[in-house]
Amino acid sequence: MQSDFLVIGSGIAGLTFAIHAAKFGSVTVITKGKAIESNTAWAQGGISAVLSETQREIGDNIESHIADTIDAGAGICKENAVRVIVEEGKATIDDLVNAGVAFDKDKNNNYSLGKEGGHSQRRILHCKDTTGFEIANSLIDTAKKNKNITILEEHFAVDLITSAKLGIATEDRILGAYVLDEASGKVKIFRSDKVLLATGGCGKVYLYTTNPDSSTGDGLAMAWRAGATISNMEFVQFHPTCFYNPSAQGAEARSFLVSEAVRGEGGILINDKGEEFTKQHDPRGSLAPRDIVARAIDHEIKKTGAQCVYLDVTHKPKGFMKERFPHIYETLLTFGHDCETYPIPVVPAAHYQCGGVATDTHGKTTIRGLYAIGEVACTGLHGANRLASNSLLEGNVMARRALENIVKTLPHTKTNLSPVTIPDWEYGDATTPDEQVLISHNWDEIRRLMWDYVSIVRTDNRLQRAARRLRNLRKEVREFYWGHTVTSDILELRNLVAASMLIVDCASRRKESRGIHYTLDYPKKNETFASDTELRRF
Ligand code: FAD
Ligand code: SIN
Repeated sequence: MQSDFLVIGSGIAGLTFAIHAAKFGSVTVITKGKAIESNTAWAQGGISAVLSETQREIGDNIESHIADTIDAGAGICKENAVRVIVEEGKATIDDLVNAGVAFDKDKNNNYSLGKEGGHSQRRILHCKDTTGFEIANSLIDTAKKNKNITILEEHFAVDLITSAKLGIATEDRILGAYVLDEASGKVKIFRSDKVLLATGGCGKVYLYTTNPDSSTGDGLAMAWRAGATISNMEFVQFHPTCFYNPSAQGAEARSFLVSEAVRGEGGILINDKGEEFTKQHDPRGSLAPRDIVARAIDHEIKKTGAQCVYLDVTHKPKGFMKERFPHIYETLLTFGHDCETYPIPVVPAAHYQCGGVATDTHGKTTIRGLYAIGEVACTGLHGANRLASNSLLEGNVMARRALENIVKTLPHTKTNLSPVTIPDWEYGDATTPDEQVLISHNWDEIRRLMWDYVSIVRTDNRLQRAARRLRNLRKEVREFYWGHTVTSDILELRNLVAASMLIVDCASRRKESRGIHYTLDYPKKNETFASDTELRRF
């Protein structure tokens, strides 16, 4: 299979790229599940943007959005990345509206603007509390109607193919990817000189996460194995308010997100005595940036021995939650919780990968022709902590910027595909059912150890323990991988270990606390570490 553009992932970044790239050639989008399965589809709060006169009238402007982003990023945002992305807010909203997204409007026909932690102004456009689902559906519909785009579901990218891996002595460049076609069980070669990694994040590395099952760090791990530079993986953002549901069984019990936008509309975090404890940590209280709020909750839970804290919206008028946050309201009811009558029990959970494959402000990685966009990438926008609702914005902007750069700098027709011979995939033997049990055991072990040793509060000792255990797990996983038929379970496990090790390696190098990386051994910011952590496999 060959195409002008190979896009791996069907979230906002991958689909936005595909829709625009289709004007210049053939686009193949592969996605490991159904096209709708992505973090994008789960986004609740909305998308931050400064675009209209109305916003300026209430005192908002681009500079203020830039300042809030840099403030959240704790000193290591790349200012040029912040600027080029934030300045594209209006273009992003126009682009999404063109694709069919109907953002909520007020009675004066102005966009209805929400607020979230760390934002000094109301600037979050939304579709009630299912913004991501509306965006994902609109993009999928638009892409499906385009004759130049082929979307292949249940196609799992296994590894990137590069000239260096094939031993071709030229500048290292991308040649395509090995892809597992789940229906046939065959690993096929997808050939393209322009490959877009848009595989999202790695929330599943942790036992408790807001992310869907697809977030296993595949793109990150593939890029790492291919020799691309990886940055800032110590910065894993924990969302403060996931529904705590002790009656539910298993890890999924803590995974339902209660949007930060609920706090933006007046929801208040309290402890079991009804005290607004976050005010002791930051004057902005419940609406301080996420790192501060998540740590305040962690501190409160450890101090009091409580299982959770509470998000109180009982003071809001009856019917408010049902009208403004219908998805959250209804889902909580299905869990047996009436949020208009009782405060919502909540705990933090892993939510967003701020680091990733290092790119410039056009999504270019260190491998020619390989671009990384969306959550898998590290552009410098987020620094040490992402400002809420900046990621959908980044996904759209970087998709458009990557295309702009490709069109300018790389030949863009199939006829230019360089003639190389790529070896077929080498298969191993069959997996036995016994080993399936071991695979799920390792999967659970990784997620538990990451939660216990590498989450909101870290120490050198915990990181060293995690590194030792991960090294052993990696050995076992390699044995599965080389000895057996390739299945998506084995592939995800392999990527989960790689992503975990990258987090631990980056965290171990940062001997300070900054943004969402907090360690008891170095509890203060240290300006000698005011730069990116970079890792590269040689
Ligand atoms: P994704 O949307 O995650 O898409 C990645 C795609 O890659 C998926 O289709 C996946 O199946 C595919 N894929 C992965 N690995 C492979 C592989 N090996 N082979 C083939 N395909 C693969 N951000 C905001 O800005 N505002 C919000 O309100 C907001 N709310 C959120 C709420 C929740 C519950 C969550 C989890 C996240 C939220 N975020 C929000 C973050 C935001 O949704 C994501 O950062 C963003 O959607 C990422 O988009 P993406 O295109 O990079 O990746
Ligand atoms: C939320 O709605 O709280 C999530 C927003 C985000 O992660 O940007």
